[in-house]
Formats: sequence, C-alpha cells, structure tokens
Amino acid sequence: MIASFAPMEGLTSHIYRRTHARFFPGVDRYYAPFLAPDGQGKVKASALRDLDPELNRDLSLVPQILCNRPEAFLALSRELEAMGYEEVNLNAGCPSGTVVPKHKGAGMLADLDSLDRFLAEVFSACPLRVSVKTRLGMESGAEFPRILEVYNRYPLSELIVHARPRDGMYRSTPELGPFALALAKSRAPVCYNGNVLDRKAYEKVLLNFPGLDRLMLGRGAIANPALFRVLRGGTALEAQELRAFLDALCAAFREDGLQERLILGRLKELWYYVNHMFPGAERELKQLNKARCLSDYESAVGLLFASGRFDPDAAFPGALPE
Ligand SMILES: Cc1cc2nc3c(=O)[nH]c(=O)nc-3n(C[C@H](O)[C@H](O)[C@H](O)COP(=O)(O)O)c2cc1C
Repeated sequence: MIASFAPMEGLTSHIYRRTHARFFPGVDRYYAPFLAPDGQGKVKASALRDLDPELNRDLSLVPQILCNRPEAFLALSRELEAMGYEEVNLNAGCPSGTVVPKHKGAGMLADLDSLDRFLAEVFSACPLRVSVKTRLGMESGAEFPRILEVYNRYPLSELIVHARPRDGMYRSTPELGPFALALAKSRAPVCYNGNVLDRKAYEKVLLNFPGLDRLMLGRGAIANPALFRVLRGGTALEAQELRAFLDALCAAFREDGLQERLILGRLKELWYYVNHMFPGAERELKQLNKARCLSDYESAVGLLFASGRFDPDAAFPGALPE
C-alpha cells in the first residue's frame, strides 16, 4: 500500500511534515497544501519557501496547485521544476465557498469543457508529471462517470479520489460506487481518500476494494499522528510520544522564527483534532483553548497529560469546521 499524507492547509507545513516524519516514519508521500498562484503563476515567497527542498529534506513531497488558468499552472510548474520537483498535483477538490464560485478547486468540476481545455493545455506543455486530486462532482457522485471520461483523455500520473461530491464538504458518507468506477476504469493509478479515520474504517475500505494499493489519510492522521503505523498493524500511539511530538513541533516553530501568537494558533488548530484522545478532560481542554501565550499553553498541556484521560483508541468523530 502506498500511503500518503493528505495536503491540509494551515496544518501540514514543512515543519509539521518533517517533525511528523521524524517521530512517525513510514509515510510514503506527503502532499503539500495548495499554492494559489496569481495570473502570472506567482505565489508569495513564504508559500514557496514551504517547498524549499532544504526544509523538506528526506521527504517524498508532491506540491499542489489550485488554479484554473493553464498559463499560471504552467509558469508555477516550471518554477517547481527548477526547485527539483518531478510531479505536481492539481487541486480539483477544494469545496470552499470562496474558491468554488471562481471555478477553482471542486469548482472545476462544474464545467467539464473548461476542465478538458485546461488539462489539454497543461498536458501539452507541463515539464512535470501531473496528478489530480478530485471530488466526485459538485452535487452528486452521479456526475463522476463524465468527469472520469475527461481525466482518462490525459496521462495523469495518479488520480486521487476524495470520494464525496463538493456539496458533501467533509460531512457526507463517502460514495463507494463512483470510487469503484474509478478503480475499474481510470487509466491512471487510483488513490482512495475520505474518512479513513481509524483501523476499522481502513479495514472496511480494504474489504470493499481488496486490490486497492494507494491510500491518502488526512484528518485521521492529524488526529492521531501514529495512524499510518496503526493501519500497518503497528503499536498504538503512546502518551509520551504524542507529547514529545507536540513539544518538538512547538520547538521547531520557535526555531523557524514564527511569532508566539502564530505558533499558538497553529498548535490550537492541531489540538482541535488531537483532543478527541482525551475523553472526559473537558476542563483541561478548555484551559488549553483559553491559553493566550505559550507558557499558558504548556501548563495546560501538562495538565492534560497528567489527567490520565489519554485514550489512543477513542473514536475521532470527524466533525470539522468548514
Ligand atoms: C483543514 C483542512 C485543510 C485542507 N487543505 C487541503 C489542501 O490544501 N489541498 C487539498 O487538496 N485538500 C485539502 N483538504 C482536504 C484533505 O486533503 C482531504 O481530502 C479531506 O480531509 C478528506 O480526507 P480525510 O477524510 O482523510 O480527512 C483539507 C482539509 C481540511 C480539513
């Protein structure tokens, strides 16, 4: 099984990726959160820095682009090529209300003629291999057969299918029927994504698709950073290693020169997912949420780990902000 860490904007920066790989080795590929170029294909220096090969040493990393203008996609791909990348991923899945109306992300699936033209231009000139991360459609998985026909006209290096339509956001039950079609009919290798939040969900996916050999984990791996290991039959996450991982992340953010306020924001966002492993520790979690500086945060984390409430098998509800 080729196991990939999903792109998670605001969460899986280079600091997260490298720290994660150090503590929880075994991820075959990390996909970077999307770059959203302007019309000339330019992005902010800080966004490009996140992909600096030196800051992503020893990782297999695939950059991702969110854009619907082939010239911009190609210009940025050339820049990525100059940085040493060999593959780029197109985001055809972002469901955000600020992205979709601009016909980007999942919004590309609303007009298949435009998607086709976009891919034709990109594939005629892109110096990199191009993979796509897609939703099943805008409103329903019934749209997927036509979408797949478009993808099959091009030599995609991989088709990652987040098995929900855009309207399902991160809530709806993944639709396995259209995913089965992708596995059967896609010219490109297919990767499953969507709601593999624990071992039970993984086993269910494997039962449905015994031949599946590519899997991408997102929220489940943020919520339990040892999830890749657990799915491969390894040991459950231990409290000490979670603590050491979170401490190392905090230290790495500091070393990178990030302002305290921003570090706190990033860590709290992570805790939004991690907190499910502390059932019954509402008081300590509230204190963590209220932390205004890193020393408050560190005291709250100390109390949480001392609470004895850590349970690595507690179910991650998968309920998320949108
Ligand atoms: C906070 C957040 C940020 C995300 N950022 C990206 C992104 O930058 N690019 C992308 O293709 N998908 C992004 N996604 C979608 C995930 O990569 C993934 O497809 C989705 O969470 C479903 O997988 P999961 O059920 O394993 O979490 C994001 C999702 C969340 C919740």
